[in-house]
Amino acid sequence: MPLLADLRVLYHLVFKRVRACDHAARMEQFYAGQSDSYDDFRKRLLPGRQELFSSIPICDGGVWVDLGGGTGANLECLGDSIRRLSRIYVVDLSPSLLEVARRRFERLGWSNVELVEADAITFRPPSPADVVTFSYSLTMIPDWFAAINNARDILRQEGILGAVDFYVSRKHPAQSHTKHSWLTRSLWPLWFACDDVFLSADHVPYLHDSFRSVLYRESRGRLPYVPFARPPYYLFVGRKRG
Ligand SMILES: C[S@@+](CC[C@H](N)C(=O)[O-])C[C@H]1O[C@@H](n2cnc3c(N)ncnc32)[C@H](O)[C@@H]1O
Repeated sequence: MPLLADLRVLYHLVFKRVRACDHAARMEQFYAGQSDSYDDFRKRLLPGRQELFSSIPICDGGVWVDLGGGTGANLECLGDSIRRLSRIYVVDLSPSLLEVARRRFERLGWSNVELVEADAITFRPPSPADVVTFSYSLTMIPDWFAAINNARDILRQEGILGAVDFYVSRKHPAQSHTKHSWLTRSLWPLWFACDDVFLSADHVPYLHDSFRSVLYRESRGRLPYVPFARPPYYLFVGRKRG
């Protein structure tokens, strides 16, 4: 029942306290009880994912690394053209979400997808990647600087970095970027921090510093069951500089 599934997810988001000290254990504790309902609820909570994945060109024989890829649902946006890639790595710390991903790719018959239980800040594919993506994972990775640096290291030159996530602006952002009010900058980091999601004003500047931007968009999402709430998110696609 969709409503029961939503209630289970809401219980985990609002009431369940995650107490493990180790980051990987915290992720698994948070997701284990909601992994089966994850995709349906996050479709309504996490905007811009389809746009991000469909805006990245696929190159024949390429390698795609999805860091913090969870259930791998985003890869379905690529459709059957995913078969043109030689390898796709879905890297995540939560075995429960990876199990959902395993069932998905088995059902789709996509044998070139490899699921890896590993940390996004240390994972290295055997050969340089053509694409690295972060979809709502940077805000959950405590050392997100290290995760972006690792992504840059594993990309080939001119390789593509794609990221989509919630964020808040700096008080004085770059001129071409959106400036958020004091209320927005204060409310949303507090709201999301309850679920170990840490919105930052520095993701966007650091991504622009680290990669040559080819697509950048800022917008507002929605929260299921919370009318009028519009958390800000960004979508970034950049290329590793030669
Ligand atoms: C909000 S979920 C997003 C999942 C998926 N990318 C999506 O768009 O639905 C954040 C994911 O990041 C993963 N994660 C958090 N920290 C991580 C880390 N250090 N290394 C790998 N994955 C991590 C979590 O386990 C979780 O699956």
